[in-house]
Amino acid sequence: MPVVRGKDIDVLFSASTIARRNLELAKEIAARDYDDLLVVSILKGSFIFAADLIRALHDMGQSPEVEFIFISSYGTGTTSGEVRVLRDIDNEVAGRDVLLIDDILESGKTLRFTRELMLERGARSVSIAVLLDKRGKRQTELDADFVGFDCPDYFVVGYGMDVAHAFRELPFVGVVTGDA
Ligand code: IMP
Ligand code: MG
Repeated sequence: MPVVRGKDIDVLFSASTIARRNLELAKEIAARDYDDLLVVSILKGSFIFAADLIRALHDMGQSPEVEFIFISSYGTGTTSGEVRVLRDIDNEVAGRDVLLIDDILESGKTLRFTRELMLERGARSVSIAVLLDKRGKRQTELDADFVGFDCPDYFVVGYGMDVAHAFRELPFVGVVTGDA
């Protein structure tokens, strides 16, 4: 079991498992034949997944534009409450096919808010790709079009995701199980 910063981390999805899945996801996305694809990566948690997924999309012959939106949700502990934009994208979305990329779909509030924002701005379509889906935690009706893995209800870290700003750099997705 890896030990990072003095903590035991259980590997839930290894780097190679994620890499294989990213290629499959890219294949699924390419098969949709989007006309004018604008990828919007939701910061901060999705930056590594987005970086890998767009390179997998390149391998599938896709050339999307790539943007970043910084969304923050306030709430108690790890549950999302009010959602707002901390840093917006620069591109026009009107008439375009937007693919939102996020790390985890949990309550659904972050992605629902962001999807509506893109639709209000006139996006022709808005699709959603997430690495992990915690279906049991949904508080609003929302499903992703592309899901890497169903995720058990653990608080996970790594591959872009943090707990208290730590562990984003891990190349795998894991669960902190205790002190080493
Ligand atoms: P929601 O779907 O609006 O509830 O929020 C999902 C967001 O909460 C994700 O984009 C993550 O940033 C964060 N999040 C949810 N679960 C976890 C977790 O287990 N580890 C790290 N971040 C999480
Ligand atoms: Mg997030």
